[in-house]
Amino acid sequence: MTAPLQFKDVTLGYDRHPAVHHLSGEIAPGALLAVVGPNGAGKSTLFRGIVGILKPLAGAIMTGGLDSRDIAYLPQSVDVDRSFPISVYDFVGTGLWRSTGFFGGMGNGASDRIARALAAVGLNGFENRAIGTLSGGQMQRMLFARVLLQDARLIVLDEPFNAIDARTSVDLIALVRRWHSEKRTVLAALHDMDLVRANFPETLLLARGPVAWGATSEVLTAENLLEARRMCEAFDESNSCAGRWPPRSRLRWAAHQSAYF
Ligand SMILES: Nc1ncnc2c1ncn2[C@@H]1O[C@H](COP(=O)(O)OP(=O)(O)O)[C@@H](O)[C@H]1O
Ligand SMILES: [Mg+2]
Repeated sequence: MTAPLQFKDVTLGYDRHPAVHHLSGEIAPGALLAVVGPNGAGKSTLFRGIVGILKPLAGAIMTGGLDSRDIAYLPQSVDVDRSFPISVYDFVGTGLWRSTGFFGGMGNGASDRIARALAAVGLNGFENRAIGTLSGGQMQRMLFARVLLQDARLIVLDEPFNAIDARTSVDLIALVRRWHSEKRTVLAALHDMDLVRANFPETLLLARGPVAWGATSEVLTAENLLEARRMCEAFDESNSCAGRWPPRSRLRWAAHQSAYF
C-alpha cells in the first residue's frame, strides 16, 4: 500500500439498515491498527467494506490504489464453513489464487510455498486433514497460513485471536509483528485490551460510528470504553449489541490507568 486507505463519510449496512455510520479518516501505509468495540459495534461490517465484499450505502472507501488481490482477509472463524469438504493443504492453497487465478492450477513451486506457510504456523503434517477436524487454535493457524501465502500489502484480520490457546496467540502475534516489520498495513478486530495495548500502536474504537481513533493509549481510556458501550446500546434496541463489554476486570484496570493518561 503506497497511498492511505481512506474512509469518506462512509456508511455501511445490510438491506438499507446502516450498521456503521459516517466514518471518515485514513489509515497510513504500514499502520498496525486495532479495531475494538462491543459485539455488534460494526467491526466485521467495516472489514467487509474494506475488502470489497460489502458496498457502502453512502460515502466511499478508497483502498489507496490496491485491488482485491493486494488485500488478504481473515474472516471471523464463525464465518468459515467448517463442514466444507476440503483439506488443509487445498484450503491454504487458495491463498495462491491471487497469482495463479482460479483455473490456473497450482503451478511449479506452489507446493513448496504451501509447505513453508504450513511450517511457519506450526501445521506440518496436517496437509491431508479435513478442515472440519481442526481445533480452534489449529483452524486459526490455518487461516494465518493462507494469509501468509497471499503476500498482500493490506491484511485485514477479524478477531484472529478469539477462543484460541495462549501458545497459539503468541505464535500468531509474532506473525502480525513480522508483517508490520515488512511494512504491510495490518488491521485487526480484537477484544483483549491488554493484547491491544501491548502490540498495536493505533486503535479505532467503534460503536456503530467512531468513538475515538488515534494512539492506543489515548483511545483506550475508561471514559471512551464506557461511551462506546453506551452508544452501541443506544443503537441496538434488542440490546444484543454490548453483552458484557468491556470485561469488568479490564474496565477497572482502565479506570485505574486513566489517571495517568
Ligand atoms: N449479514 C448480516 N445481515 C444483516 N445484518 C447484519 C449482518 N452482519 C451483521 N449485521 C448487523 O450489523 C450490525 C454490526 O454487526 P457486526 O459488523 O457483525 O459487528 P461486530 O463485528 O462489531 O460484532 C449488528 O447489528 C448486526 O446484527
Ligand atoms: Mg465481528
